[in-house]
Amino acid sequence: MRSPFLSSSAFRLATVMLLAGGSAACSQNAKTETATTAATPPAAATTAPAALAKPADWWKETVVYQLYPRSFQDSNGDGVGDLKGISSRLDYLKSLGVGTVWLNPIYASPNDDNGYDISDYRQIMPEFGTMADFDELLKGMHARGIKLVMDLVVNHSSDEHAWFKSARASRTSPYRDYYYWWPAEKGTPPKRYSTFDVKKDAWQYDAPTKSYYLHIFSKKQPDLNWNNPKLRQEVHAIMRYWLDKGIDGFRMDAFQFVAKDPSFPPMPGLTESNYANAYNHGPHLHDYLQEINKEVLSHYNAMSVAEGAGRNTTEAMLFVDPARKELDMTYHFEGVGVGSNSDTYKLTDLKRVFTKWDSAFAQKGWQAIDLGNHDQPRMVSKFGDDRPAFRAASAKLLNTFLLTMRGTPYCYNGDELGMTNSTFKGIGDYRDVAARNAYALLRQQHGNEAAFFHSLARFSRDNSRTPFQWDATAHAGFTTGTPWLGVNPNYVTLNEAAQNQDSASVLNHFRRAIAVRQQHKVLIHGQYHLLDAANPAIYAYTRTLGAERVLVVLNFSSAPHSWPLPAGLVPSGRPWLNNYPQALPAGPALALQPWQAVVVPVR
Ligand code: NOJ
Ligand code: CA
Repeated sequence: MRSPFLSSSAFRLATVMLLAGGSAACSQNAKTETATTAATPPAAATTAPAALAKPADWWKETVVYQLYPRSFQDSNGDGVGDLKGISSRLDYLKSLGVGTVWLNPIYASPNDDNGYDISDYRQIMPEFGTMADFDELLKGMHARGIKLVMDLVVNHSSDEHAWFKSARASRTSPYRDYYYWWPAEKGTPPKRYSTFDVKKDAWQYDAPTKSYYLHIFSKKQPDLNWNNPKLRQEVHAIMRYWLDKGIDGFRMDAFQFVAKDPSFPPMPGLTESNYANAYNHGPHLHDYLQEINKEVLSHYNAMSVAEGAGRNTTEAMLFVDPARKELDMTYHFEGVGVGSNSDTYKLTDLKRVFTKWDSAFAQKGWQAIDLGNHDQPRMVSKFGDDRPAFRAASAKLLNTFLLTMRGTPYCYNGDELGMTNSTFKGIGDYRDVAARNAYALLRQQHGNEAAFFHSLARFSRDNSRTPFQWDATAHAGFTTGTPWLGVNPNYVTLNEAAQNQDSASVLNHFRRAIAVRQQHKVLIHGQYHLLDAANPAIYAYTRTLGAERVLVVLNFSSAPHSWPLPAGLVPSGRPWLNNYPQALPAGPALALQPWQAVVVPVR
């Protein structure tokens, strides 16, 4: 399976990590993170001050809204979104009808990879605010019935984490075995590839102890050693710390890479393009998850979702089969991977992938449904048509899809407005470490700049990280200062304030679609059945629960199409959703407008 966030060949092949400057001074004491390694019994979730009442399996019925804190709302004019900014927008979140917010990392971090490099798991990044701001935010969410899921980034820490500072200073550090080392006297370590490294090398030589350390991501993201029970206990304690504060679950970052054979045997056949697969599902991965479940998750009514679902549906089931007591759900990359190496994609591929993943979990287990996130381009630019004539209709269609599939929908912030890929004039406009370092490598190798920028424009992660477009005032109402990443110039017409007023907007369609999903359990739990699999333009399926059946018909094309209703499917009543104002003409075929999406009960 492809790396999830480096999707285009030109961009992917050239993606590297600039070797950042020397390590920061060793001022932080390793004990400030945690000294709690004993398996203390966790506090019951009910004792958490701000906990919400939650029925079992609530995570199946919720809609998750992924919120990228750096880009959501700035409260103090420094150009960076923050927790107070999010707190000021809670009524907006409530108005959407989403049940859960997944917040990308807000922990202390030198921000080499926008918070996915954590230097203290129990502190808030000062740019984002304080712990008091966090407590206020959680309280405000819970007061509105919204749950909070946090990112848990424990495949690696930051190289500025106190554990790593201690570990790299001496071979006898008590934290040495929290990481993976290869002593230089053993020679060059066995080949391992890295995603962001400028040389693609996952081993970084570290002079103080004459050893190499492992980093699958950037050299500022050293991999944590899960073979060490002490490290695992630290992670459990971190999880309890946040759950005891009352949060409602974790999204577990890069979890497919966590387990490693510490002897690092040679991996014949390992290449730059297959390493993500090769590192997937290492030894003891499921032992670690079962331990997390036993020690932590089972004591809280918390939702758990892992990034990375294994290499196929069979492996994915191992994470989420309830009998195995590991996680609630995972999200796979095959859906967002469709069309990731080209300017177009085939709808039949998208249908095949989503249908395959649905059927594998039809009897047991559960999956996330998503078409985008902070590592992907904007869904409307990739799977819809972001030209002005079709942008709104196609964004509504894609949201209809997300909210009518079986599985928990993950809606990425801004997609409820149909926010699009942005325009970047040159490498200086990009902020993502992946883009900037891929460019540095390209220059070294005298690569094809035109192809590189073409690919970057379509697939850069910065496309989905531009500031949220609140209104038509300067910087889209995101900040009074200079935004950390340029606002998409289309904010003047594409913004929340304008859409809030317009009952036909993408935003109000999104709200209606969520309400319909909540009203009709068939859309959550109903059996999914694909119709007309070979149709290259229409994605149609039914959902059935007991006597209730609903038909979803999506015209994934910028041309009108007529779709003959299959024998035996007769619309019975008004559509629950329709992204065009006109009523559906009665007859044996549906005459569908470009990107029309219709959800209608059937007999
Ligand atoms: C996956 C995250 O979604 C991505 O943004 C990050 O760069 C890597 N994991 C490394 O933590
Ligand atoms: Ca700020």
